[in-house]
Amino acid sequence: MISQLLTLLCVGLCVGQGDLRRDESPPKPSLSAWPSLVAPARSNVTLRCSTPTKDVNFALRKGGKVLELLQSPDSTEGQAEFHLTDLKSINAGEYTCEYYRKGHPHISSQPSDVLQLLVTGYFPKPSLQAHQRGVVTEGAEVTLQCQRPDTEIVAVMFALLKAGTAMPMQRRSPEEKRAEFSLQNVSIGDTGNYSCVYYQTRAPFLASRPSDHLAIRVTGKIFTRRRTRAG
Ligand SMILES: *[C@@H]1O[C@H](CO)[C@@H](O)[C@H](O)[C@H]1NC(C)=O
Ligand SMILES: *[C@@H]1O[C@H](CO)[C@@H](O)[C@H](O)[C@H]1NC(C)=O
Ligand SMILES: *[C@@H]1O[C@H](CO)[C@@H](O)[C@H](O)[C@H]1NC(C)=O
Repeated sequence: MISQLLTLLCVGLCVGQGDLRRDESPPKPSLSAWPSLVAPARSNVTLRCSTPTKDVNFALRKGGKVLELLQSPDSTEGQAEFHLTDLKSINAGEYTCEYYRKGHPHISSQPSDVLQLLVTGYFPKPSLQAHQRGVVTEGAEVTLQCQRPDTEIVAVMFALLKAGTAMPMQRRSPEEKRAEFSLQNVSIGDTGNYSCVYYQTRAPFLASRPSDHLAIRVTGKIFTRRRTRAG
């Protein structure tokens, strides 16, 4: 009974301290990768950590360990860029960032969402096939199948990539040695060159070479209808 009362009291106090808590642990920053989160070995990737909060310092963590500390270069912008050059297998893994208000170096923000950087080129490339090759009509569903060669690798996932897009479009656990991706209700914006990779979901997080590109072109419905009427 008494302990319940104490618990209630404590809850009341905790709620009372709400504002203080929020001050102590500011909201998480966002972490993004450029040009892509799935990058070939020996290429360069920039990880950008940003927050609307001004006057902050940033820390980049990999696998939970602090890798690098940076001051945001311009005090009006809460943003820092971490340059990873000449990528090697050791750079693959799970990254987060956080920030510290200047003058409060011991109070860190919540960590950003985790970004899983994949470095490609360590296993033979898979093949990517579409049931509807080439030109598809707006609104259609496109199914893509990625199949990996017969190699001994455990804990594998597949990712669908689109050229010019930093983040993988979709990730899938495979069935046997293949995974199916589905693009539903496609629009003109889905036009592009697609490829896929497979990768380890555990350290050392190595990824295959990307498959050959598969071009998909989405055409408008109106155009097709007009042609049908005219013909
Ligand atoms: C990566 O960055 C380094 C140093 O900035 C530069 O010398 C090199 O040319 C870059 N490599 C690629 C593939 O862009
Ligand atoms: C397909 O996408 C269009 C445009 O984005 C939207 O208006 C329509 O409702 C979608 N159809 C379905 C079945 O989701
Ligand atoms: C796809 O790749 C080909 C060959 O590299 C290129 O000519 C074409 O412009 C690309 N298409 C898109 C939509 O990016």
